[in-house]
Amino acid sequence: MLNLGILISGRGSNMESILKAIKKKKIPINPAIVISNKPDARGLKIAEKLGVKIEVIESKGFKGSREEYDKKIISVLTKHGVTPKKGLVCLAGFMRIISPEFVKKYKNRIINIHPALLPAFPGLNSQKQALEYGAKVSGCSVHFVDAGMDTGPVIIQAVVKVDEKDTEETLSKRILKKEHMIYPEAVNLFARKKIKISGRRTIIS
Ligand code: GRF
Repeated sequence: MLNLGILISGRGSNMESILKAIKKKKIPINPAIVISNKPDARGLKIAEKLGVKIEVIESKGFKGSREEYDKKIISVLTKHGVTPKKGLVCLAGFMRIISPEFVKKYKNRIINIHPALLPAFPGLNSQKQALEYGAKVSGCSVHFVDAGMDTGPVIIQAVVKVDEKDTEETLSKRILKKEHMIYPEAVNLFARKKIKISGRRTIIS
């Protein structure tokens, strides 16, 4: 079985949806470790409650380079069996850009959830961006992480209609509900080796 490492920075609701799906035996993967770059991330408590090991690698005040910080992450992942051969890394609200070295080492083994229909509205505050743009639909995307910002091949997307009365909060809430559905599903597909990458496309069997 593959070993899963989840990287978080805060609330951890996507992490929770993945861990709960694993607990229900819906996903054949071992939830090996949850790592946060913030000691007060709410998600850490949730992970503990669900019986998953946690580690904090504080990024605030870290003196070294991005690559050096990521080396620390990689060593914790490795310690828990989340290796480039036997691991999957999920970014779940992890508010840091990861280094090209990390991406290269775990090639096609790092996935992320983004609260918009990529390639629309990459980066931060995507729900706000969608509203300000006047988009009639938005949604969320699970994608492989490459060296760019939210640019890797898409695995699953879900569409959410934008209501004329929507605020950033109401739209974010509806998108989040879909996030909690598609992220566990993408992890499941990965764990069952059902995703092939062909150029920019993923082929799901
Ligand atoms: C989610 O909206 C996710 O799409 C984005 O950051 C947020 C994290 O929320 N990448 P949570 O920590 O999973 O609750």
